[in-house]
Amino acid sequence: MKILLTGGTGYIGSHTAIDLIENGNDIVIVDNLSNSSKEVINRLNKITKTKVPFYESDIRNKSKLEEIFEQEKPDAVIHFAGLKAVGESVEQPLKYYSNNLETSLVLLDVMSKFDVNKIVFSSSATVCGTPKKLPITESDQAGVGITNPYGWTKFMIEQILTDIAAANPNFEVTILRYFNPVGAHKSGLIGEDPNGIPNNLLPYITQVAVGRLAKVGVFGNDYNTPDGTGVRDYIHVMDLASGHTAALNHSKPGVAIYNLCSGKGVSVLELIDAFSKAAGKSIPYEITDRRPGDIAASYADASKAKKELNWQTVYSIKQACADSWKWQSNNPNGFAD
Ligand code: NAD
Ligand code: WQD
Repeated sequence: MKILLTGGTGYIGSHTAIDLIENGNDIVIVDNLSNSSKEVINRLNKITKTKVPFYESDIRNKSKLEEIFEQEKPDAVIHFAGLKAVGESVEQPLKYYSNNLETSLVLLDVMSKFDVNKIVFSSSATVCGTPKKLPITESDQAGVGITNPYGWTKFMIEQILTDIAAANPNFEVTILRYFNPVGAHKSGLIGEDPNGIPNNLLPYITQVAVGRLAKVGVFGNDYNTPDGTGVRDYIHVMDLASGHTAALNHSKPGVAIYNLCSGKGVSVLELIDAFSKAAGKSIPYEITDRRPGDIAASYADASKAKKELNWQTVYSIKQACADSWKWQSNNPNGFAD
């Protein structure tokens, strides 16, 4: 199968590219490099010992995307492209609605024109809002209590895909709701490389470990959780990657939604401790105020993906920390090194 990856030079797309190639697929990447580096392609070529076709283009450039479809004739699309910084989306909502919705609308239009009927979409745990019960399942009501424009764009795109599938009986949609991706490819050649100060916990920890930042701020220790710090469902990015390959292999007409998660909750202090052990160095931290909009705990039920996609996570938090450390210590300044 030939799969077009929008946003494929980003963190999750680049790791998924490897899993797809290792499982016998051809891929083509389209990315405008707004939040990633062209160096990713060199690294992917090295890891996979292939030459990954890459087009530097904005998905919203419809005529260019049509040319790419004409040239590459993909069988399926994984739609990673999007802006993802929750805080920025609150400050600049239009930027998020414009980029995330327009990329999806243009892409779906071009897919329809070229009769490409299979799509896997990068959705997020964020669409679940503040969960009423844990673990979160796919049948829990989504779209209630979403606290930021980024999350709304994901929920709206889920709805757009659902409506298109209802209108076109050949259309195959898989919505993957990612929980908290962490880790890096075992080669240490690719990994998460956020612009500016990281918003997410593990990249913050790795940048403290490498000396780019002084200490981790732990956002509150008075939550109703075992140690008072926030609990999340961290998933190794290579497990997430294999979830996409499984989703494509099991794709069928209609809409299927899966949580890609480990099923286990890990606290902020537990993650700092696991990283300290994996990296063999202590990580300075201080307890600070809660971050506005954060919830106490989020973890999900992974059984639907296991049953229907025959997929499950294989990597531990320990492995994720070791792989993130290998990536960050080999590339202290990310792809800019
Ligand atoms: P990322 O920013 O590393 O990758 C996204 C890629 O999309 C980037 O390379 C960026 O340059 C590209 N892009 C953005 N707008 C584009 C456009 N208009 N045209 C072409 N390319 C464009 O993010 P990621 O962590 O790899 O996330 C991938 C997807 O998964 C995103 O849709 C994100 O919202 C979603 N997601 C991420 C997380 C997470 O914590 N990382 C969690 C849940 C969902
Ligand atoms: C994890 C825990 C923080 C940073 C976000 C998005 C979500 C998804 C994944 C895209 C929380 C605590 C964090 C720090 C801390 N992305 N923390 N100090 O908030 O669960 O999810 O990323 O779809 O949509 O909202 O992830 O890594 O920011 O936080 O104490 O410097 O770490 O309070 O408990 P989050 P995170």
